[in-house]
Amino acid sequence: MVDESIIEQCRQEAENVANQHDLDQLKAKYLGGKSAIRESLKDLASLDPQARNQASATVNAIKKQLGVIIHERKTVLVEEQTARALAEQGLDTALSTDVWRQGALHPLTKTFNQLKRLMYSMGFDVAFGPEAETFYYNFTALNTPRHHPAVTLQDTIYIDDDQLLRSHTSSVQIRMLEKVKPPVRIFSPGRVFRADTPDATHSPCFMQCEGLVVDQTATLSDLIATLRYLLEGFFGQSLDLRFRPSYFPFTQPSFECDILFKGRWLEVLGCGMVHPDVLDNVGIDSSVYQGYAFGLGIDRLTMLRYHIEDIRQLYDGDLSFLAQGEVL
Ligand code: DAH
Repeated sequence: MVDESIIEQCRQEAENVANQHDLDQLKAKYLGGKSAIRESLKDLASLDPQARNQASATVNAIKKQLGVIIHERKTVLVEEQTARALAEQGLDTALSTDVWRQGALHPLTKTFNQLKRLMYSMGFDVAFGPEAETFYYNFTALNTPRHHPAVTLQDTIYIDDDQLLRSHTSSVQIRMLEKVKPPVRIFSPGRVFRADTPDATHSPCFMQCEGLVVDQTATLSDLIATLRYLLEGFFGQSLDLRFRPSYFPFTQPSFECDILFKGRWLEVLGCGMVHPDVLDNVGIDSSVYQGYAFGLGIDRLTMLRYHIEDIRQLYDGDLSFLAQGEVL
């Protein structure tokens, strides 16, 4: 027959058990089929009734105690394991849950929303293209064959010979013109990529917004009027604009557009009349149709508008910077 000393023995052994597996073994040892308790319960049968009653009460009380010890140890092990898992995840469960943080729109999102509103109001539709592009859409179809110097001017991030992270949103011009017949009036905002080392004015990933109109009458003065409406609408004031002759393989003539900002001329976009070869490349008759296009830097506009001096702040995800935005 077991006696009460087994309780203390079990308690000590349980304290040394460090995991569930060992606890299961301890349970088997003290309460399992071959345990002393089981043997004692079987032995009860051989006792006379009075002795059996007494012994039965004792053995069952011991059995119950052993069960309690093992159960309590299990609770402790589970708590310890949960605490360890939380510590590994770096979660502080003591943190107050009643801090309610309201999100704010990212400055780039705000600019995008404003441009979208202005472009919609002029009857443009939005179009999106893939960020991983083929050489054809990013260069060749935009009148920029592989040997062209403009290909090496852009610090393109290549995936392989034929695939790259688009270096500008102009690739969407081609994707749209392949799908939609003129008249076409689209704008296409999105991320673009260049192999640039980040500094205050460069980021390997930044945002552009492309604009494209192709119909039978689009002129350079339409382009200028569109850009004036867009830029003045964005800044909420009348602006001095300057168009400098420039070169892009896919426009002719081509311009850089500058705005006079705090006494300085700042370049905000490239633009021009769509090159006839680009139209012919997508099967649009350039003797019938003509168009204009522009590509503006969303980051540049955002930085000017919100007085941001370092482009990296737009991509760092620093909450103290982002929380300054107006609430959603
Ligand atoms: N894709 C040019 C760039 O990234 C910008 C640009 C210039 C876009 C002229 C145009 C354009 O649509 O007509 O520098």
